[in-house]
Amino acid sequence: MEQKRYGHFDDQHREYVITDPQTPWPWINYLGNEDFFSLISNTAGGYSFYKDAKFRRITRYRYNNVPMDNGGRYFYIKDGDTVWNPGWKPCKTPLDFYECRHGMSYTRITGCKNGVEASVLFFVPLKKWCEVQKLTLRNTTKESKQLKLFSFEEWCLWNAATDMENFQRNFSTGEVEIEGSTIYHKTEYRERRNHYAFYHVNTEIQGFDTDRETFVGLYNEFADPQAVMEGKPRNSHAHGWSPIASHYIEVTLQPGEAKDFVFLLGYIENEQDKKFAAPQVINKEKAHALIAQLDTTEKVDKAFAELCEYWDALLNIYKVKTGNDKLDRMVNIWNQYQCMVTFNFSRSASFFESGVGRGMGFRDSNQDLVGFVHQIPPRARQRIIDIASTQFPDGGCHHQYQPLTKRGNNDIGGGFNDDPCWLIFGTVAYIKETGDFSILDEMVPFDNQPGSEVTLFEHLKISMDHVINNLGPHMLPLIGRADWNDCLNLNCFSWDPNESFQTTENVSEGTKAESLMIAGLFVVTGKDYVALCRKIGKDAEADCMQQAVDAMVEAVKKHGWDGEWYLRAYDFYGRKIGSNECDEAKIFIESQGWCTMAEIGAEEGLVAKSLDSCKKYLECEHGMVLNNPAFSKYIYEYGEISSYPEGYKENAGIFCHNNPWVIIGECLAGRGNDAWSHYAKILPSYVEEKYQTLHKVEPYVNCQMVAGKDAFKPGEGKNSWLTGTAAWMWYTVSEFILGIKPDYDGIRIDPCLPETATDYVVSRKFREAEYEITIHPNGQQKGVKQIVLDGQKVDGTVIPYAPGKHTVEVTM
Ligand code: GLC
Ligand code: GLC
Repeated sequence: MEQKRYGHFDDQHREYVITDPQTPWPWINYLGNEDFFSLISNTAGGYSFYKDAKFRRITRYRYNNVPMDNGGRYFYIKDGDTVWNPGWKPCKTPLDFYECRHGMSYTRITGCKNGVEASVLFFVPLKKWCEVQKLTLRNTTKESKQLKLFSFEEWCLWNAATDMENFQRNFSTGEVEIEGSTIYHKTEYRERRNHYAFYHVNTEIQGFDTDRETFVGLYNEFADPQAVMEGKPRNSHAHGWSPIASHYIEVTLQPGEAKDFVFLLGYIENEQDKKFAAPQVINKEKAHALIAQLDTTEKVDKAFAELCEYWDALLNIYKVKTGNDKLDRMVNIWNQYQCMVTFNFSRSASFFESGVGRGMGFRDSNQDLVGFVHQIPPRARQRIIDIASTQFPDGGCHHQYQPLTKRGNNDIGGGFNDDPCWLIFGTVAYIKETGDFSILDEMVPFDNQPGSEVTLFEHLKISMDHVINNLGPHMLPLIGRADWNDCLNLNCFSWDPNESFQTTENVSEGTKAESLMIAGLFVVTGKDYVALCRKIGKDAEADCMQQAVDAMVEAVKKHGWDGEWYLRAYDFYGRKIGSNECDEAKIFIESQGWCTMAEIGAEEGLVAKSLDSCKKYLECEHGMVLNNPAFSKYIYEYGEISSYPEGYKENAGIFCHNNPWVIIGECLAGRGNDAWSHYAKILPSYVEEKYQTLHKVEPYVNCQMVAGKDAFKPGEGKNSWLTGTAAWMWYTVSEFILGIKPDYDGIRIDPCLPETATDYVVSRKFREAEYEITIHPNGQQKGVKQIVLDGQKVDGTVIPYAPGKHTVEVTM
């Protein structure tokens, strides 16, 4: 059944165009690429922060509010008695026209009412610490228009967590300064903060407000602020309470006339000895300088053009032309874009992640960088070093770290035994992309302790060793607090609802809890590690690890096979999990994914059987569920996984993140039809065509979880944007389906396609080279018959790297 549609793709402009503001859920976008970031919804809701959504929140946002998506950058236009906003909210005055275009790091929202068109372009210029809001007002009528324009931002008192709870203090600390058309927010600047924010407009203002209560009215709302409704700013000066920033501008527009206004939301840091211009007066030099760089339409347009060129260049690195628009737009635009966003934010700030709970994840960030490394390798390099610096000397790792301090987060600690392996996964991807082996010699500390530095290679080694040193009774890896599945807590045993499943480990002495997911992960990354060691001449180390890998393969075959699929784990007491013998959750996806990617028992037919079982038991209309059947009750021995109702999250939800693991397993097994059908089920562009209303969340990116077949509403999506799904979808389609795989010495070409696939072309920039690769599938799902590079036949499937432009013809 076709469902109501709220928008459509515009591939030419690389935009998603939303045509109805009342989307089934706020459909958001991200602004900013490095230090200054903003989240923006299709009605201009959201907030900004500098580097860290918890510790440096610039504007305030209220999550899970009524109405939904409350707080943002709002422009109120008062035209006679009508007050409206270009993005419909918060006034919700019906508009004559509404459109929101989410593009690559920018959003343009346009609204029209009574002959006035208001269009706002939001973006964060490259290398600048500010959000630009370029508002264009146009009079499309034959009469002149007298408009009253009010801007609005609400300041957050920097620490987003205490901002939401420490009111006895917060209501007394707020401070601002006003200078011309700039409102400065300087709460806590008098003491330990060396930073302030400002909101500026490049025109003279006729009034302002900085105190929320005065502007809005205590019993009014964002939808009807008193100052706006009465058309009269109060020129209020905030002392404590809730500081805001609102400019008031009187605008006259002749028939046909248009005017631009550049609003700037900026962030400034000052040196300790240059904080003040005079007692109690902040030093505004840097703010003035920043404003001067963006105070005209021309300067702003130039900064915007630079941002667009930046994205052109990034999206030129890997481009495909298959003739299937739905595939091409995901590969060429949205999947790569989402990879940048997950690389930047890990799991910290979205409309489902409040920005206060979680920093950067050790495993999450390593996976994210695999989707991003081809775009800006130096940033991936730095990320690897940052992550490795939070590792402990025994190879274990802090599970998360804060982006501002880059320090491990002690609240959550370590003990997630899959974590170390991901460092190999990330580092190998980086070296294969760049050929930069020097990263292995970088000196990297443990737990950020100066003086503890060893080489990055040494970190990789102890990561592998950590698994080997933590084997259980079946010689399979001990799971610790959890493996990739944060909710399989086999040493937790909690009856106390106030305990966190992630950090509670009530009993672990004498545990027999082992993970087949880590076993598969160890074999995959172990093979990579062996190949890397050989490459750098560490043959003894390679031999040694090969033995450990072989032993793990044997252990899986012996103790990890259930007859039709791989077991999931052994519990604390050594009992099977994910076995036909279990009452519920007889089969889990993670071990099928990792053990088929590791090709464990392929010759004996285990891989094919496991993949068939995924189709038989896990697959449904919307993708593959995590486990089947779902848990129907809480199981004390298993932890959080069974706490979720059936079909949601880790209890038999379609956890999109792990679908690609099985898809890669399918690709390695050469089953292109199956790989494609699994892939298309969770590909946003296919979902958007059929299920906009049911799916609810943004149709241009993947979400973490789609409700599974046992759920109340199968197919409903949640937790959009920040999910490892982005990187895994990219890795799967770019390297395994389309088959263009970076390797140490060149590019390996080995596609796995549905038999309906037709000829396609991939343009790939790789180090100092540029390849134009044409693939002729000839109805084959797998198997490269011939590669011709610049007219010469190549032996094998790797085209050897050489700088310059090359043409490649591949026949399957
Ligand atoms: C979340 C976490 C990730 C974890 C997954 C499964 O996405 O960010 O680290 O692996 O859930 O529990
Ligand atoms: C919960 C979620 C899981 C997430 C974890 C992070 O367990 O179900 O997806 O990874 O929280 O702490």
